[in-house]
This record gives sequence, C-alpha cells and structure tokens, in this order.
Amino acid sequence: MNNLLRGKVALVTGASRGLGRADALALAAAGADVVITDILMESDAGAAETAEKYGLLSRHMQSTGTVFAERTADEIRAMGRRTAAYKMDVTDTAEVKRVMEQAVSEFGSVDILVNNAATLDHVAQLEKQREELWQRDLQVNLTGSFNCCRAVWPHMKKQGWGRIINMASVAGTLGGYGQSSYATTKAGILGLTRSLAIEGARYNITANAIIPGIINTEAFGSIDPGMRDRMVDRTAFKRPGEPDDIANAIVFLVSDLAKYITGVGLNVSGGIELFTF
Ligand SMILES: NC(=O)c1ccc[n+]([C@@H]2O[C@H](COP(=O)([O-])OP(=O)(O)OC[C@H]3O[C@@H](n4cnc5c(N)ncnc54)[C@H](O)[C@@H]3O)[C@@H](O)[C@H]2O)c1
Repeated sequence: MNNLLRGKVALVTGASRGLGRADALALAAAGADVVITDILMESDAGAAETAEKYGLLSRHMQSTGTVFAERTADEIRAMGRRTAAYKMDVTDTAEVKRVMEQAVSEFGSVDILVNNAATLDHVAQLEKQREELWQRDLQVNLTGSFNCCRAVWPHMKKQGWGRIINMASVAGTLGGYGQSSYATTKAGILGLTRSLAIEGARYNITANAIIPGIINTEAFGSIDPGMRDRMVDRTAFKRPGEPDDIANAIVFLVSDLAKYITGVGLNVSGGIELFTF
C-alpha cells in the first residue's frame, strides 16, 4: 500500500478531526503528500471566535480540544511525506482559490481532492429547521464542495490527471429523520459527483462519492447515546464503522487500481441500507 500514491499530492478539506484526519493519514501512508485544510487550527489565536461562528459542533470540538490539524501534519511529516496545514473555509471562494494556488505552487500539484468538510449538527424536524442553518448546510456541504472542485479543476484538466472524492452520506440516499437540510446536501453531492465524472473523463479526471453509514468519529460520539444505539442497530454488522474503513475506500478510489471507476457512490455503511430484520 505504501507506494500506491507515491508522487501524488492530496488536499483534504475539514481534516482537523474525524474522517478528514483519518483520510489524510491514510493517503500519506499510501505515499501521497498531503495538504490539510480546515476552519479550525490548534495554533490559531482566533479559533474560539471561528468556532463560535460555525455552530454547535465546532464550538464543542474547539472547547474540548478536539482539533488536530497541525498534529496530523506533524504525524504525516514523521512518515517522511511533505505536508502543510492551512486554514481554509470551503464557503469562501476567494480563500479556496488562494489556498489551492498556494498548494499547487508549494507542492507542485494537487492531484487528489477529498471534499470532506461538512456540518452535521443541524437536526430538527421540518417545522423546526432553522433557515440560517439550512442556508449554512447548503453553503458548506454542497457549495463548499463545488467551490473546491472549481478551484482545482483547471489544474487537473491541464495536467490530464485528477481524482475527486466527495463525501455523501446514507442520509442522502435514504433520508434521515430531522435531517432535511443535511440529507438534501448529501443527495446533491451525488448529482455533482456524477456530472463531474462525465465532464472529467476526457481529461482523465475521475469523480466518485463515498456514502458512509454510521462511522465512529468524535462527531458520532457527541450525539445522544440512545439515538446512537438505534442507528447502529440498523446496520447488518450491528456495529459502527471505523474511520479507516472510509479512508481505505478512498485510497483505493484515488489510486490507479480504480482508474476505470468514475461516477460511483460507494456505500461504506456496514449494510445499513439493506433489508435487515
Ligand atoms: N461520521 C459519520 O458517521 C458520517 C456519516 C456519513 C457521512 N459523514 C460525512 O463525512 C464527513 C466527515 O464527517 P465527520 O464525522 O468526520 O465530521 P466532523 O464534524 O468531525 O468533521 C467535519 C470537519 O469539517 C470542518 N468544517 C466545518 N465547516 C467547515 C468549513 N466551512 N470549511 C472547512 N472546514 C469545515 C470541521 O471543522 C471538521 O473538522 C462529512 O462530510 C460528513 O457529512 C460522516
């Protein structure tokens, strides 16, 4: 595995914890240089203010010290790979463009883009969905992924090679109780992925989505235990997946082993969508 992505440069959004961090570490373990990006950075003096602006989950993670962007970069450096941790808000088009250009100029390329950043803390039935959070979820989860794809596209096109991974969710394929905003953005991600797959094929750019089920991240750990158990009980395995299960699927999809695979939404879900009873 450790040479599969040798010579490639990957950029992961929302990589300061959870699945993004696991993806960054796995891509590096497979040989890639990795650019970590997130709104939260440990050394950022304004992190508490930033977290405040980005909602409940960000505030909780920042106040409990669950921010590991620079630590992840240190771990990747210790593997002998090149890396950097950049503050980047995926909703800020100008910042995304600037960071993408900086990554290309410092690392020579961005070959692999993992659109992982998302908001997961807006759970409310339709009448209680908050309009500002509905807008935020669309902006971060959907427009944010679109912004990053657009910023990296000309570069991938020019070099005639690119791999895009978008993070969807079973909420997007199955729907989710109290998840109308989140599920809508994740369903949209699948449409974006398929369209980019069609447009990218002539430039040797593949675009695929991962459809995670219930994965054991800090975010999953922060939800109500009763709800957690009910979700896990729906899986065929009767247990949550681990971040590595997602990261390993990503490493495969961005490697040459998957060079003829594009436009798929790959369930990594322990069978939560199956007719289990
Ligand atoms: N954990 C699961 O069970 C699960 C299931 C299905 C899908 N997913 C998807 O996987 C991805 C990661 O989930 P996670 O559990 O690690 O969540 P998480 O909340 O731990 O991680 C999300 C990351 O995105 C960052 N982020 C938020 N807004 C941002 C912005 N505007 N710009 C840049 N970064 C921003 C956060 O700071 C955080 O580091 C998400 O796309 C999520 O929808 C997760």
